[in-house]
Amino acid sequence: MTPGKKSTVLRFLITAGGTREYIDPVRFVSNASSGKTGYALVRAAIGAGHKATLITAPTALRAPAGAKTIKVETAAGMFEAVKKYFDKCNCLIMTAAVADYAPAGPAKNKMKKTGTGLTIKLKPTKDILKWAGRHKKKNQLVVGFALEDKAIKTGAEKKLVEKNLDMIIANTPAAIGADKSVIWIKTPDTKWAMLALASKIATAKKIIAMIENIASWHKPLPGGI
Ligand code: CTP
Repeated sequence: MTPGKKSTVLRFLITAGGTREYIDPVRFVSNASSGKTGYALVRAAIGAGHKATLITAPTALRAPAGAKTIKVETAAGMFEAVKKYFDKCNCLIMTAAVADYAPAGPAKNKMKKTGTGLTIKLKPTKDILKWAGRHKKKNQLVVGFALEDKAIKTGAEKKLVEKNLDMIIANTPAAIGADKSVIWIKTPDTKWAMLALASKIATAKKIIAMIENIASWHKPLPGGI
């Protein structure tokens, strides 16, 4: 083994960005996610000698060097891509701000204004993280994010349990679009740990190190690296 080189190379599948849910061919419902956290995690994983596949909703960021990048737009598109790559990964990290709702009947043509009010009916999208938590194999890790603006730990812990996750990372709306963030991390077996305000790349390196630690208790994927 090369000195300093890791013995276990993990395959990360990381989602990022805010999905777009179309109302008509040119208009969509979305959110303010910048994708910075997800892209920082991809860079940190590659920097630590791992492999990473990024599934990204539209962002203004440059694709990270060394990673396979798959571009999607909608929650449905992201779900298809996650299903395609999930079996091959050791660890899925869902940083994406997946829209919880999409227009129920998007118009085929650009909608004309009528001068009166407009009500758009929304239908729920698939919870991708919950699907992954249900379908993970014994040796796969599934990590979720929780964006909470009140009762941060309570809300995030609920997601940890309900989505059958191996780690939950909680943050607040202050992290959206920022270069620095404060996060709280919990696994089913550990107490809450806070990572104080730091650049998203510094925090991402710590998260990858924590995941490496958990992964070291798991057996590598059959046919894996
Ligand atoms: N998530 C997902 N699919 C969705 C919605 C969310 O995979 N349709 C994932 C996000 O990527 C994140 C986690 O679920 O890792 C939590 O997202 P968050 O928006 O904090 O919570 P929700 O589960 O959507 O619940 P709520 O909005 O009610 O807090």
